[in-house]
Amino acid sequence: MPFDPANFRSRFPSLTLEVQGHHAAFFDGPGGSQVPLSVIDAQRDYYLSRNANTHGQFATSRAADETVDEARAASAAFLGAQGPETISFGQNMTTLNFALSRAVGRTLEPGDEVIVTDLEHDANVAPWLSLEERGVVVRSCPVRLEDCTLDMDAMRALIGPKTRHVAIGYASNAVGTVNDVHRVIGWAHAANATVSVDAVHFAPHALIDVTALSCDFLLCSAYKFFGPHVGLLYSRPGALDELPTDRVRPQDPSPPTRIETGTLNHAALAGVTAAIQTIANVGEGDSLRQRISTAFAEIYPYEHRLARRLWQGLADITDLTLYGPPVGDALRAPTIAFRIKDAAPEDVARRLGDEGLFVWDGDFYAVTLIEKLGLSDKGGVVRVGMAPYILMDEVDRLLAAIRKIAK
Ligand SMILES: Cc1ncc(COP(=O)(O)O)c(C=O)c1O
Repeated sequence: MPFDPANFRSRFPSLTLEVQGHHAAFFDGPGGSQVPLSVIDAQRDYYLSRNANTHGQFATSRAADETVDEARAASAAFLGAQGPETISFGQNMTTLNFALSRAVGRTLEPGDEVIVTDLEHDANVAPWLSLEERGVVVRSCPVRLEDCTLDMDAMRALIGPKTRHVAIGYASNAVGTVNDVHRVIGWAHAANATVSVDAVHFAPHALIDVTALSCDFLLCSAYKFFGPHVGLLYSRPGALDELPTDRVRPQDPSPPTRIETGTLNHAALAGVTAAIQTIANVGEGDSLRQRISTAFAEIYPYEHRLARRLWQGLADITDLTLYGPPVGDALRAPTIAFRIKDAAPEDVARRLGDEGLFVWDGDFYAVTLIEKLGLSDKGGVVRVGMAPYILMDEVDRLLAAIRKIAK
């Protein structure tokens, strides 16, 4: 069955929103996606019949245990992980990444090196920079500004005998570049360094397979793929076992709880399971993993078609500059950044917002990239994000509105 956007949209009540007589079109997904009714219901049901703390000897507590277990199992299927014990949860990606960097940092010596990149969201930089106070040296792989791709020769050269950890994004939340993380993981492992992948921006758009990647850690955030605000951390079996994480003394020190602090947001975890099922329902197959995998085989090309139409339409507008790799055949997130000459991105976003076209402006915390592009004091860029609930008509509406502004 080919992907049916109308059917997919029907699950999301918020898509009926109107703004000043205009249908809202949600191109703001990279900042957080809309949520289907099933996710809202799952959280409501948790509070209605499953609400308790975990590990008690009574029905609601057992149900809370189940809720957590189901979310770990669904997340493991979502990421292609070896099992539910590889999945830890937290408040969001940033908080989990600080917990990870603190733990990894305790195993490092002054002079040890951590590699990040100039393409990152700061949530994948600041946690590693905080290790500089321990004498750890943080190096950053440069970006080729002409198409916002990583300079892989520079990355190859940066990874050396002093490298202990590489923190790399899977996809840029600002310009959509997908990095060849597979190659970087190979180089890092050959140098005996561990690798964490920030997959927050990649996860909503294409299939992740942590086993095939053989990364040590991977992080993502459910509110970017139709779920609630919960961060997910995958740790390769064994990777978390010895890490000196922050924890309270009675806490189970084995993975996945080894890096979890305090009581999790159980209701939100029920929502994470429902969000993953929303994606899986697009696909087919006997197992949850198969359904997720076949779902992305539909979602990715659909979003790519939307992005290609927008890219090609924008490329024809004089006085408009596009950033990032062209939308062609290469793997890419369907996220498009642009600027209109003489128009502040904030003003462009406001004018589009007034017509019910929701887009973001600014740097989206991809501060180094925007600085290197020379746009930090110019309001950054306008960012349009695709989602499976976006219609081609909405892309055309957006294009027409941008053309009007660029005139
Ligand atoms: C690529 C990327 N990494 C990390 C983050 C931070 O995620 P969280 O809000 O879950 O901390 C974001 C959020 O926008 C992001 O886009």
